[in-house]
Amino acid sequence: MSAPLPSDPATDPSFHDMLDTRPSLTMDARDGLVFEGVPLHVIAAAVGTPCWITGAETLRRRAKALRAAFEARNLPISMHFAMKSQDHQATLAILRQCGYGVDIVSGGEMQRALHAGIQPSKIVFSGVGKSDAELRAAVEHDIAQVNVESVEELYRLDDIARACGRVARAALRVNPDVDADTHDKISTGRAGDKFGIEHRRAVALYSEAASLKNVRLVGLAVHLGSQMLTAGPFREGYTRLADMVREIRAAGHTVEAVDCGGGLGIRYRDEIAPSPDMLAGVIAETLGDLGVRLSIEPGRWLSAPTGILLSRVIETKAGNPDFVVLDAAMNDLARPSLYESWHGIMPVAPNGLTSPTKLWDIVGPVCESSDIFARDRALPADTKRGDLIALLDTGAYGFVMSSTYNSRPLAAQVLIDNGKWDIIRQPQSVAELIAVETVPEWLTAAGNDHG
Ligand code: LLP
Repeated sequence: MSAPLPSDPATDPSFHDMLDTRPSLTMDARDGLVFEGVPLHVIAAAVGTPCWITGAETLRRRAKALRAAFEARNLPISMHFAMKSQDHQATLAILRQCGYGVDIVSGGEMQRALHAGIQPSKIVFSGVGKSDAELRAAVEHDIAQVNVESVEELYRLDDIARACGRVARAALRVNPDVDADTHDKISTGRAGDKFGIEHRRAVALYSEAASLKNVRLVGLAVHLGSQMLTAGPFREGYTRLADMVREIRAAGHTVEAVDCGGGLGIRYRDEIAPSPDMLAGVIAETLGDLGVRLSIEPGRWLSAPTGILLSRVIETKAGNPDFVVLDAAMNDLARPSLYESWHGIMPVAPNGLTSPTKLWDIVGPVCESSDIFARDRALPADTKRGDLIALLDTGAYGFVMSSTYNSRPLAAQVLIDNGKWDIIRQPQSVAELIAVETVPEWLTAAGNDHG
């Protein structure tokens, strides 16, 4: 996927390059870095840091562009946003208004989606381990489709639907054994990955499932991996799926729907990001003439560029290397420490573009050596305590993967929309962290304290 954590100053994009490729982000001579028309320093002053910012217009623009790519090819397709990438109610409301449904992976996401007013008929449930309670909720809410990931789950769904007196719609999620050519930790469609049903067994299973009374198989689903940058693996996976559709039909069964999953990659650093048109083209070419209802489950492509993690420099630490210690950390943005991912890191101050730079290691305050956002990264040489720093493209798998490690409360979230902005999630307090903990009475009983 993106470049390894040690940046290469020789090939890293400059601040100008970063701005040129991000239409929502501008540098103002007086206000410094501005996102969707709102100066970031204004938000930092009012809300504090670290703080997550989402740009509503960026989200809408991308939602429309993705849809338009399929419309341009006259290819009807349903869009199910992979809400694991960004699951705030405001995000879901915006995408609902854009006609999107959601791909969920837990009962919690189902509750969130329903609460955001997403119709059950626009909810698809993926995931390798759905509990009985989660399957029951899916059946009771009569969601569009459960993507079943194993033989065992198929039969369990049948039992649960029977107990509810319902017939559940399901698709078999196939593991096509295709290498998505991305980071190992976000590949999902290779033999040996835990996801989906081995493609060689899927056709026989489809036939077998025809006898189930309480599950109606509507088709096949696949998700190959995430941050995919080339057409090849998409083409290979979808061709395999199309062959399977033909085989299943030849065996006398109905295949109504194919869910193509997510995975479309973006430019974080200098990747040549595929366009939605590439995806639409590959789907049209491989699955377009099968007469099936098509759907996709994009997450990152929609949400990553909508997000900024705004942070303040706690300290600079001279040495070899020189460190910039931010008030954001791996508990906020886990991606660099988990996947060695590269995120654009920009100064917010107006002179940020013109100041001479030097190379810094940019780290958080968490007590882990892996709490590093970037090594050898260019930032102004005079970066100092109190300066604001923006971490770019953090809208996907950013806030949603935060933890409270080191008793660091979850940071605030802010939404910008057409020049307006508001806090959409108050910063968590340490008191809230402690409030849900209880100490058993026997520990507090008199006589236990030797202090
Ligand atoms: N559908 C299914 C069944 C998935 O498992 C995923 C992502 C998606 C759709 C959406 O994929 P996307 O369009 O976002 O690539 N935390 C990692 C990414 C994990 C992706 C997991 N599944 C990261 O930060 O890179």
